[in-house]
Amino acid sequence: MKILGIESSCDETGVAIYCAEGGLLAHEIYSQVKDHAKFGGVVPELASRDHIRKTLPLIKKTLTVARLDLADLGGIAYTMGPGLAGALLVGASLGRALAFALNIPAIGIHHLEAHLLAPLLSQQKPALPFLALLVSGGHTQLIEVKALGDYQLLATTLDDAVGEAFDKTAKLLGLPYPGGAALAELALAGDPQAFQFARPMIQKAGLNFSFSGLKTQVMQTVKFLGQITQQQKADVAASFETAVVETLVLKCRRALKQTNLKRLVVAGGVAANKNLRKQLTNLLSNLNGEVYFPELEFCTDNGAMIAYTGFLRLSAGQRDGLQIQVKPRWSLSDLKPIQ
Ligand code: KG4
Ligand code: ZN
Repeated sequence: MKILGIESSCDETGVAIYCAEGGLLAHEIYSQVKDHAKFGGVVPELASRDHIRKTLPLIKKTLTVARLDLADLGGIAYTMGPGLAGALLVGASLGRALAFALNIPAIGIHHLEAHLLAPLLSQQKPALPFLALLVSGGHTQLIEVKALGDYQLLATTLDDAVGEAFDKTAKLLGLPYPGGAALAELALAGDPQAFQFARPMIQKAGLNFSFSGLKTQVMQTVKFLGQITQQQKADVAASFETAVVETLVLKCRRALKQTNLKRLVVAGGVAANKNLRKQLTNLLSNLNGEVYFPELEFCTDNGAMIAYTGFLRLSAGQRDGLQIQVKPRWSLSDLKPIQ
């Protein structure tokens, strides 16, 4: 059964086709990041409008790359939530309507479940169970992946997502949106000990994160410095990055201990951060465990993870009704097991 997957929960339009025999047959992505850059963040209405423009052409392109026709499809999966309501509605309406027209089953997919299962698309896939750290512009979560369809959310952020904190700090230092990668680059020339920024929430028991206080601390420091030199900017970037990385590593260590797991999967755009990769690799090597950093194209928002998760659920006989439904807020614990 060849499954078409459609992702449209935020500012990336992703389309892919997955099947049992051939695996991932094609996957295409269109990122709107440039359109939102001038606003310093994602503008929901612009995101929805661009999904409307881009999704159908991307479906056609994906079918062409896979050398398939619409008639070859056996099912359609689309992101049902969580995410931006308007953006989700574009993928859900299109996916549901197309499935109706083709008389094939359709299913709405939980975006976070898709992220959790995306590492299984890699050549080097982790065995289950594993601990997942999802770190992107929209997510900061620690999730125990016990089995397919059986997930426990262990921690989330109380305020900003970690990528959001990188982007806002980068903006303070005059870097363009999204500034995470540029901030990491700038940090290479800086002294990570120059400023003592907080490691948020590490004194408290538990695993939750909070990054808005750290962001405010950086803002006050930059204000205090006034005419900031290039070296000072690099020092702020390095000190900020180190504070974030140390916090994430500490929480991962706690979560691995709490769950008795020795396998960690790191996903989301922030997983590209070299400092984070190095420190987590050290942590898992000290624990005699394994850390997985799936290819970035499967880590960030993409259609492949939706097609794959849809394939698993549709193959298990699950399908949704004819109504077009999205769930901008949707708890992972409400998911049915995949049998
Ligand atoms: O998963 P992703 O591509 O998109 C969504 O958030 O949906 O993640 C993008 C986030 C942005 O906040 C970006 O600044 C951050 O990942 N990012 C990084 C790095 N590369 C991308 N943050 C820190 N270090 C990096 N090298
Ligand atoms: Zn995502």
